[in-house]
Amino acid sequence: MGFNPLKEKGIPIEKQIHTWSDLNVQPYNKRDVHPYTRARVILMNGIEVEAALFLHELARNSNDMELKRNIAFSRRIEQQQQKVVNWLIPAEESVLEATIGYEQVAVDLTAYLARTVPDPYVKQVFDFGLLEDFDHLYRYSNLLEMTEGKKAEDIVGDLTEVIPGRPTIKEHRHPFDEIKDFADRTKGEYMTQLYILTLLAGEQQTMNYYMNVGNRIADSVGRGLYAEIGQIEEQHVSQYESLLDPRATWFEMMILHEYNECYLYYSFMEQETDPRIKKIWEAHLGMEIEHLRIACDAMRKHEGKDPEGMLPSSLPEPVRFQSNIDYIREVLDMQLDLTAFETGFIRESELKPDARYLKYQKSVNGDWVPSEKVIEGNIKKRGRDYRLEMAAAAASSSGKSRS
Ligand SMILES: [Fe+2]
Ligand SMILES: [Fe+2]
Ligand SMILES: [Fe+2]
Ligand SMILES: [Fe+2]
Repeated sequence: MGFNPLKEKGIPIEKQIHTWSDLNVQPYNKRDVHPYTRARVILMNGIEVEAALFLHELARNSNDMELKRNIAFSRRIEQQQQKVVNWLIPAEESVLEATIGYEQVAVDLTAYLARTVPDPYVKQVFDFGLLEDFDHLYRYSNLLEMTEGKKAEDIVGDLTEVIPGRPTIKEHRHPFDEIKDFADRTKGEYMTQLYILTLLAGEQQTMNYYMNVGNRIADSVGRGLYAEIGQIEEQHVSQYESLLDPRATWFEMMILHEYNECYLYYSFMEQETDPRIKKIWEAHLGMEIEHLRIACDAMRKHEGKDPEGMLPSSLPEPVRFQSNIDYIREVLDMQLDLTAFETGFIRESELKPDARYLKYQKSVNGDWVPSEKVIEGNIKKRGRDYRLEMAAAAASSSGKSRS
């Protein structure tokens, strides 16, 4: 039988408070961290940020003192967890090196979720976003080589290719075309809602990161690139959040958040190769089981509903960070020239001449587009752009692989 967080005993909430010294964890070593350990750290930071912000929104929409006090307690713990997780990232990783990690997360998480999500419409939306973050990885990798003389392969390993995706210049679309139909939570599997929330939280944290660190870059093209890609992350957040079923109540959403935290910590605890970080995932799982219990009690009290009825009897198959090289190549072959139109997707060549996409493109892409300039700049400096190609023949003949 699988793991059912509703049936497990968590850590009592009063025992979850930690000292400053506990929060101030030793960062990993950037030279020997596994790329997917870094990826798990980046994603779980995004999950904890979403957990804290969601509970703030809930508090702002509640007039119940007891509820507000209880969620203030859970939220304080989410904030502690966020510090522990995000403080694993060392200062020796530059803003731009950390950015490469963020985009590797976006690529391999989106690809994994797209491959395994049961809902075909949600899969299409994920595949669409995948090719865009894949291109961001290529643009930032060129900025990294151009401005810091470093190679993205030292960060992503041989797990993720670095080649052009859907060109970033083509990704700028009218805001109306980001809004998708939602996935009905009463049909389909609960897993679909978990996947959407996971990807949304990851993309939201990437959006937040670029909003804040884009001005820490000295190079002018680099500053422009963060502004430009930051706007695509805003599009991605709009796209993914529109997939969540908006008819879910606040208490359903509270449970969804805590259940998802249990799901991800459980998934990553099983896969983590760094024993010290594995212990963190395990400890956080114990905390989330208790947050979930608190959320379930809140639903029973405020809505008189039974939360067990809406949750699966055990956690779905674990979410995995794994290499998706061939899958991404397939999606590239089939979907490179897609653009969004209303709640669906069409080939750019099928757009009418007066399409709002084309007008929007003209409004933002003047004569200086940073995502193009960064490639031109690196070619000028090195005589070629930066790429890391591993698919098919290239990968099998080289024989190098990193699990
Ligand atoms: Fe948490
Ligand atoms: Fe991205
Ligand atoms: Fe993104
Ligand atoms: Fe939580």
